[in-house]
Amino acid sequence: MAVQNADAVNNSSVQDLAGRLRPGFTLGVAAAAFQIEGALAADGRGPSGWDAFAEKPGKILNGHSPAVACDHYNRVPEDIALIRELGIDSYRFSLSWPRIQPDGRGPFNSQGLDFYDRLIDQLLAAGISPMVTLYHWDTPLPLERSGGWMNRATAEHFAAYAAAAGKRLGDRVAQWVTLNEPVSVTLNGYALGVHAPGRDLLFKALPSVHHQLLAHGLAVQALRAAGVAGGIGVTNLHSPVRPASRRFTDRLLAKVFDLVLNRIYADPILLGRYPKPPVAARPWFRYLTKASDDDLRLISQPLDFYGVNYYYPVKVATGRGPAESPAGRTETMTRMPFHLAAFPEYDTTGFGWPVAPEHLGILLRELKDRYGAALPPLYITESGASFPEPEHVAGPIADARRIDYLAHHLQQAMASTAPGGIAHDVELLGYYVWTLMDNFEWAAGYSQRFGLVHVDFDTLKRTPKTSFYWLQALSRARKARA
Ligand code: NOJ
Repeated sequence: MAVQNADAVNNSSVQDLAGRLRPGFTLGVAAAAFQIEGALAADGRGPSGWDAFAEKPGKILNGHSPAVACDHYNRVPEDIALIRELGIDSYRFSLSWPRIQPDGRGPFNSQGLDFYDRLIDQLLAAGISPMVTLYHWDTPLPLERSGGWMNRATAEHFAAYAAAAGKRLGDRVAQWVTLNEPVSVTLNGYALGVHAPGRDLLFKALPSVHHQLLAHGLAVQALRAAGVAGGIGVTNLHSPVRPASRRFTDRLLAKVFDLVLNRIYADPILLGRYPKPPVAARPWFRYLTKASDDDLRLISQPLDFYGVNYYYPVKVATGRGPAESPAGRTETMTRMPFHLAAFPEYDTTGFGWPVAPEHLGILLRELKDRYGAALPPLYITESGASFPEPEHVAGPIADARRIDYLAHHLQQAMASTAPGGIAHDVELLGYYVWTLMDNFEWAAGYSQRFGLVHVDFDTLKRTPKTSFYWLQALSRARKARA
């Protein structure tokens, strides 16, 4: 594919940013198996909970199907060529558990492992370092049918899968991420029912938190026992939470949201304990506070790095919200006596999420204040935005808003962690853009485009956007300085 240079890109911002990228800092792009691969029945792959969920009427916007997605499974050479042309250091992708172990327990599928084996070899041959996520939401269907993450046994099965992946691929993978955003799985999948498996258990979904964290701990053990060469970490979504006012009820609500969105995942992993809920909210969190010391020791094993996905801050207010709400409100949430309030000072993305780069620096400061010496070196494992873009294009589209988004977030990441920055004591190792190409955005189907590369979902043609050339120019400017 012919990739021109980034004429359309503002050069001074690129040069400025390139100068801020410290030596050894990793620039990457991220993706996830279920969102790009398609080929759901190829070469012995078993169904996942997401396959089944997406088939139910009304669950995916416009009835979009993940069956083909970007057809990445059949287009690996083309997609690796794109990553190579970007000139970045690393590609974060996930392994599909049901491709590798169709039932989630029992026999492994050698064709599934072969696929990732070849993918990794091709990445390495192209000079791109692989960061591998073991779990990015596609639970094998038979496990989902026996309770999924509500069932403790799923954690044990996950460890066996992690061991197999570690043994087969562990000599070549630079970084392992055990889980991606367990909060999204619990909240969207088990509490609110807007993602697979579509359960709406509200606070009764909390066992799925503990079982995912156990799975993380067991997978860390399994990978280490398999003797993997790379570093091991986990990725949590972090959403800085603010109360809409100084009122006691808003502040209390903000505390509960911070627990639900951030701390019940990060505290056990980094501190070996669940956070104490405010007295008024204690009954809801009962299940977690009963965890055994053995479990907590397993969950809090030392990590080589900690992955942070940052998208947007959250502002919470008591009382029902206006009918139109920001930030992906669900049916269930419209019945709640609280709402997510807007940040009028910020522009918003295609999803209605506030564009708030300075909150990334604030988040890094908060993480260091909260976890101190227990905070491992960090990667931003995802950062990016969707914007309304056409389904069909004739050439590169000028996605200036995405360039702006990425430039400001990366600038914030570098400036806040540089000497004199507000998070100068945070060791930030890298930044991964979400995402390489437009893909299956879960319940939103193909309606939200986050890619550096446009995908026409009728023809599957890939067309780099201007943001692709911007990132390419940044990688080149950086190499020219080295
Ligand atoms: C985080 C998830 O890890 C990813 O799968 C998703 O596409 C992005 N958020 C954007 O919503």
